[in-house]
Amino acid sequence: MTFTQIKGVAFDLDGVLADTAKFHTIAWRQLAESLGVTWTPELQEALKGIDRMGSLDLILQAGNLAHQYSQQELQKLANQKNEAYKKLIATLTPNDILPGMQSFLEELRAQGYKLSVASASKNAPAILGRLEIAHYFDGVVDPATLHAGKPDPEIFRRAAEILDLKPDQVMGLEDAEAGIQSIRGAHEVAIGIGVPGDVTFTNTNEVSLQNIREQFEKKFN
Ligand code: BG6
Ligand code: MG
Repeated sequence: MTFTQIKGVAFDLDGVLADTAKFHTIAWRQLAESLGVTWTPELQEALKGIDRMGSLDLILQAGNLAHQYSQQELQKLANQKNEAYKKLIATLTPNDILPGMQSFLEELRAQGYKLSVASASKNAPAILGRLEIAHYFDGVVDPATLHAGKPDPEIFRRAAEILDLKPDQVMGLEDAEAGIQSIRGAHEVAIGIGVPGDVTFTNTNEVSLQNIREQFEKKFN
């Protein structure tokens, strides 16, 4: 595999482009604690990248509350979290783009890369709008159309398809273990931010084509 065969980049949103992982945490924690579920750092990490109903399920399992609620009650709890989350993201501005990511998007466009968004969040289009970065992307996968969420590979496979690229022409950027598994399952190059990938960074401000290329060539050549 060579770096020059990469023609597209698929971005996770929460925790990669937008400083919104903290808002998901606040809203889920509120709901969990209102149900008597103890919040732990492990639970917090396990929820990253997981879709709304899947996250609720993990929270209920953590509190030994699985199978205690009807479908209707589960929907109500998920809506409650989403309403709290929507209030938090209403305050977003372009200042909430994570450090280094706007210049990385600029760099990628200037070099002719095709870009897509592979976020589990149904709030992604609203967030891209508030951050004023929607115009950088050639496509956004609609998570409502997926059969399975992360860690299933479907979302990252689709993120390549909407760019008319093959998986081995795409790198995916993720801050969640479930997202890295999804990228790997789709046979794309995984860039991990705060989690191990084929190429790994501690923070978004380290991400640039030059820095990716250096690690990429050590790993694949
Ligand atoms: C992911 C987040 O991007 O989107 C998860 O990492 C979140 O924390 C998921 O649960 C679904 O988001 P939403 O906005 O559709 O509830
Ligand atoms: Mg994320």
